[in-house]
Amino acid sequence: MSSGARKRLLKLAPVMTAVLLVAAGCANRDKAPQTTLDPAGPAGQKIDDLINPIFILAIVVGLAVMIGAVVVGFKFRAKDDDDFNTFPNQVHGHFAIEIGWTIVPMVILAIVGILTVTLIFDLAKKPAEDAIHVEVYGQQWWWEYRYDVDGDGDYTDIITANDLVIPAGREVALKIKSRDVIHSWWAPSLNGKKDAVPGRVHPLTIEADEPGEYLGQCTEFCGLAHADMRIKVVAMSQGDYDAWVENQTAPFVEPTDEAAKAGWGAFAGQCTTCHEISGMTDPEDPGELFEFPTEKNQVSGEAPNLAHFMSRTTFAGAMFDLRLDTPECRALGQNWAQTEKGLDQCLNLTDLQAWLRDAPAMKPMYPGETMHPGSRGMPNFDLSEDQISQLVAFLRTLK
Ligand code: CUA
Repeated sequence: MSSGARKRLLKLAPVMTAVLLVAAGCANRDKAPQTTLDPAGPAGQKIDDLINPIFILAIVVGLAVMIGAVVVGFKFRAKDDDDFNTFPNQVHGHFAIEIGWTIVPMVILAIVGILTVTLIFDLAKKPAEDAIHVEVYGQQWWWEYRYDVDGDGDYTDIITANDLVIPAGREVALKIKSRDVIHSWWAPSLNGKKDAVPGRVHPLTIEADEPGEYLGQCTEFCGLAHADMRIKVVAMSQGDYDAWVENQTAPFVEPTDEAAKAGWGAFAGQCTTCHEISGMTDPEDPGELFEFPTEKNQVSGEAPNLAHFMSRTTFAGAMFDLRLDTPECRALGQNWAQTEKGLDQCLNLTDLQAWLRDAPAMKPMYPGETMHPGSRGMPNFDLSEDQISQLVAFLRTLK
């Protein structure tokens, strides 16, 4: 670059920075789904209500300091006829000024502190009586959601991954945990961040005002695929949610067509060293529950439970769409795969097949030198194209 061009660019830099800042301020959930400045629930709203006045206060203070510095620098600058041997008038120990610049910041910080601490206590309040209870497990590199539907303290009624399905207008009491390293669960429009720390349980209450999809992601660096450990909260009406729960708790349905049966056998033979499917029966002994190995080839001890897999809209840590992201498919919601037509039209076959063909090529993972026991993520199993289509045929039956 010539020095002239560089100078012109440098002159433009402040303008470009200003444009960028203003443009960033225009972000809303449609254009920037992960913005905390466009809240979608009571907790997010309260946080926004705290951010705005403090931000205005910060602008006032920042402007006052900058303008003050410029005015003082201009007014008291050395003039040509000044006597450079006399020392300027000093204000050290000036009572009014000393008291002023001690008390004013103290009052400002006290106001900010009181508002912040009050909100922290407010957000930490016990969830409502009718709250939905969900355990959230962070692990390398996806999120698992376990629901206690009947309130008996047992969080295995529904075990799902990637999509957190909730009813709109109702509090959801999350218990955030980790199975390996420290992660952090954050859906910015619904509430603040909450760390997932091994050996600890961190409560977080979320609520969405309206049905919709609210995105987020892991916000604590947790290894190779940290950036691909995404979050999708799907809020629906109470009626739709009840139907979703009913579908999720429905028993496993044994596949009937030949390809899907073959895929079922392949799944039982190979995939069950990591994955489970709640209630899956044994392809060798139909009608009887399959006995999953107790030791899993994962550092965390778990891989996504694939029960009702086709009622999710994403896979692999919500990194890929399972349901194609077209207006028609989006309109089908979580029920997109309930009909053969929906399955044919909306299943993201390309990415799902590619994942089975060579998962580590799709997402940075650490599958280990051998397949076990230190896998963090899914290895490449060198499956044949036949095996891949059989597994897909089986997965399609998990509605
Ligand atoms: Cu999990 Cu970053």
